[in-house]
Amino acid sequence: MNTYSSLDDLSPQDRDLVHAARAAARHAYAPYSGYAVGAALRTQRGVVYHGCNVENAAYGVVLCAEVGALAAANVDGAGDVVQVIAVTGRLLATDAKQSIAVVTPCGRCRQLIFEASQRARHDIRVLCCNHDLSRIEETSIMALLPSGFGPASLGMG
Ligand code: THU
Repeated sequence: MNTYSSLDDLSPQDRDLVHAARAAARHAYAPYSGYAVGAALRTQRGVVYHGCNVENAAYGVVLCAEVGALAAANVDGAGDVVQVIAVTGRLLATDAKQSIAVVTPCGRCRQLIFEASQRARHDIRVLCCNHDLSRIEETSIMALLPSGFGPASLGMG
């Protein structure tokens, strides 16, 4: 895992991606947890898709930010060419500068990103960011979900 504390250490494309993730978090609907998450993924074609978390009074049906971004890519026929996904998050109740912890994808989102990696036939980079982008941990879905259950487990691919 690589940890960056300066945006200058990212490629221009990754810098744009983490900014896009943070911008998406502005549209989060998170009245219950008070935690706004944004995700942005980039495909092999260089197209970026966004998502934010969308909560519900029936807590269990919350949509994570990564789900939105992956769904948008799929709608556009790009669900099988995902290369990298960035995720940012912040507690809305606290000063944005105090949201110092990076967001790592939840277990369900790891499973969804894993499926995308199997479709793309390569690992997917994951950029886990805090809100002010002063800390970015770069990892990958194979590291976040080793031995994942996927198409191969069902004898496919
Ligand atoms: N959340 C995400 O959007 N993505 C993650 O990977 C972690 C959690 C959201 C779900 C919920 O709306 C809020 O963060 C608190 O769990």
